[in-house]
Amino acid sequence: MENDIAIENLPTHVAIIMDGNGRWAKSRGEKRLLGHKAGALAVREITTYAREIGIKYLTLYAFSQQNFGRPADEVKGLMQLLVEYVKGEWNTIMDNGIRLTAIGDIEALPLVTRTALNSLIKASAKNSAMTLCLALAYGGREEITVAMQKLAKKVAAGELAPEKITKELISENLYTAAMPDPDLIIRTSGEMRISNFLLWQLAYSEFYITDTLWPDFHREEFLKALKAYAGRERRFGLTSAQISAENT
Ligand code: IPE
Ligand code: IPE
Ligand code: MG
Repeated sequence: MENDIAIENLPTHVAIIMDGNGRWAKSRGEKRLLGHKAGALAVREITTYAREIGIKYLTLYAFSQQNFGRPADEVKGLMQLLVEYVKGEWNTIMDNGIRLTAIGDIEALPLVTRTALNSLIKASAKNSAMTLCLALAYGGREEITVAMQKLAKKVAAGELAPEKITKELISENLYTAAMPDPDLIIRTSGEMRISNFLLWQLAYSEFYITDTLWPDFHREEFLKALKAYAGRERRFGLTSAQISAENT
């Protein structure tokens, strides 16, 4: 497909809440896991497309901390699917110069999943065309809690003065320390909520919500989201006149 997005308007970091796999399967009279398998194909399509058009960071919400509460067979199936994903996508990730990273309570994942994931994270560490960040066993509140505990320990040890706790220091202690905040957040399947995703980092992100279910989310719809983003004016609390003056 033609890339007709003005390059200066491309978001640097896109984060996606990939929702609707279960409903996609249900509408076909299939088991939920089939929806997750179809979702993995959409991950491949969107990842390679994002890389192609020059997105630098793509974060995908694949499994929340709260998703551990789903029926055991679904959790098991998703964890197995992740192992298959790593094996199946290995060459695509390496051939496209994509660096894989992960955020979340990675230690909480089953050993096989963690091992597979870590092997590709390690192998792709020097790639630089795009960072693909998978949010796994991820929760925004949990992330902030862990960061607060780290900082509180330093304060208690006399290594950090409370007034030295800045917004920047908090950002540096989150799982996402090495990444800029998302410019654009996309949620599929029409739900109007954050579901514990990147609570700190989304402060000024632009939202794009579509009714399309994740397995049906193809490059055309992604392009539509990018076009919507390109037409937005990000004001960060200022007035429109101030923003126009800044840009001239
Ligand atoms: C998103 O799809 C994938 C995960 C949360 C793992 P869902 O599984 O939440 O699909 P719906 O929302 O039930 O349709
Ligand atoms: C959010 O989807 C988590 C992921 C996409 C991984 P959920 O389906 O878990 O969110 P809720 O339960 O509808 O809020
Ligand atoms: Mg859902």
